[in-house]
Amino acid sequence: MQLQQGQLAKIIGLSLGNAFVAIGLPYELGQSGRATKREFGDFQCNGAMAGGKTLGKNPREIATQIAAMIAGQAGIEKIEVAGPGFLNIFLEPTLLNNRANEILDDDRAGAEIVPVPRKIIVDYAGPNVAKSMHVGHLRATIIGDSLKRIFRFRGDEVLGDAHFGDWGFQMGLLIASLAQEQPDLPYFDENHTDAYPEISPVTLADLERIYPQAAAKVKVDENYRDKARKATAELQAGRAGYRALWAHFVTVSREALKREFAALGVEFDLWLGESDVDHLIADMVEDLAKKGILVDDQGAKVVFVHDKMVPAKDGGERPNVPPLLVISSEGSAMYGTTDLATILDRKNRFQAELVLYCVDQRQSEHFETVFRASDKAGYLRRDQLEHIGFGTMNGKDGKPFKTREGGVLKLHDLITMVRTKAADKLQEAGVAKDLPAEERAQIGDMVGIAALKFADLQNFRGTSYVFDLDKFLSFEGKTGPYLLYACVRIKAILRKAAEQGVIAGEIMIAEEAERELLLTLDGFELALSGAYEKRSPHILADHAYNLAGAFSAFYANCPILAASDGAVRASRLALASATLKQLEIALDLLGIQAPERM
Ligand code: ARG
Repeated sequence: MQLQQGQLAKIIGLSLGNAFVAIGLPYELGQSGRATKREFGDFQCNGAMAGGKTLGKNPREIATQIAAMIAGQAGIEKIEVAGPGFLNIFLEPTLLNNRANEILDDDRAGAEIVPVPRKIIVDYAGPNVAKSMHVGHLRATIIGDSLKRIFRFRGDEVLGDAHFGDWGFQMGLLIASLAQEQPDLPYFDENHTDAYPEISPVTLADLERIYPQAAAKVKVDENYRDKARKATAELQAGRAGYRALWAHFVTVSREALKREFAALGVEFDLWLGESDVDHLIADMVEDLAKKGILVDDQGAKVVFVHDKMVPAKDGGERPNVPPLLVISSEGSAMYGTTDLATILDRKNRFQAELVLYCVDQRQSEHFETVFRASDKAGYLRRDQLEHIGFGTMNGKDGKPFKTREGGVLKLHDLITMVRTKAADKLQEAGVAKDLPAEERAQIGDMVGIAALKFADLQNFRGTSYVFDLDKFLSFEGKTGPYLLYACVRIKAILRKAAEQGVIAGEIMIAEEAERELLLTLDGFELALSGAYEKRSPHILADHAYNLAGAFSAFYANCPILAASDGAVRASRLALASATLKQLEIALDLLGIQAPERM
């Protein structure tokens, strides 16, 4: 069999897989990984171990059989059986060279695209009216934005939606509090017939002051809670003054939020809110009723979604998944109601085939309820809806991050803090010291944002991590700044090459460090598909870090511009440029941009 081009691990896997099939074993046994040591070759396959068990044979015997079939195939320099039955595969230089040049010439730096693209919505960030974002929104934003980029790069048709929290009880609460604070505003006068003022009666600062006070008050004041509930129902029923006031809340909040997202380099394709599906709710409720799944429950309307009863804390029984509260006893649509209607909207208006909800792990029960209700109603199936949960960013005490005063840190303050500290760090490390002040400030911002994003994305999303700005901002170790530095260093080499008139040429892998760098470059596809399948960018973050490391080792061992042979110079320059291309793509998929110099 002739070995084809493409990702090396895949080619080897194909060849080995077919060999395993030929002796009556599963294809998957041919999967191989990078060899852990140079003397074990380029790739290593442990399939004969499992194969031996299946066939009741000595694994070494199986490995020997496989090796005999593979040896001599084009691209394979040699294949050895080692230890109890491991296969060590050494590749021919031509195969390595071809792959290297393929990556060099490929705009996607060796990454493949999905065979069948899907229409996907990534629901992320989830900011709310009247609440400035806090550290809790940071992970939802960073992870969601990266997943959106990864899915899009793999070829899916992806829309990112902020799913703005602009409709539930909080809105009624704000209206009720403002009615108490400024009862004379025209919005509260039921006999008001003129147009309402165009200027908002409240600023974001007002909303941020009113909201927490009101939220605390409803917890203890029954009467106040009733007022807020009533206002919510009236707003949703279309009371004109309330709608006009609410529109101000929305605009004021949205403008401020968009500025914060811009600081993080995050944009949304859709900025839809919970309120945008309000007009769908009446029909949806009717549909649920017609399908016989809407049940009256103590004055409220719910959809049951459990599949069994489990023991409850009080000694009785409860459904394993709580029902979806569709309409409250006051007649209001709830958080889950708008989520269900949004699924319908995403299906009908955007033909979504898959929706990823990038939201804190602690909302998992809510999503399980909504997803089951959607499945039951025949909207999107359960397997088309995924909650991409994540852990928290913690303080050094291991608890969700708080300010020194014990409050929740606002995202705006966090970003300011990171930027300031990044600027200090540049100064300390003498980085960018000869550049104009304005450029240095820009670099500081880029370093700060890279530090924040990379520190978050390098962990499996389910894992919580400790906020440690000094560590995040270090130019050494597995950090964003280290990776930016790696990019900038290659850019400087390429600039110098251009000045000296050195032109990149065909890649010829000769040195050990070149081989290592190429095998790392080849691993991009595996990292990308892994991040895609697991919906966790950390696999890609790992790859970027390994790539920067492999380049460093290469550069330390293989002089580029100082190489005496012209062809070697051209080849190494090409390797550097392929590395930069892939590194920049990988970082871009993490939402990180590198400066030109620093
Ligand atoms: N606004 C919500 C919150 O702050 C998050 C929204 C998440 N997305 C969703 N479709 N429910 O908790």
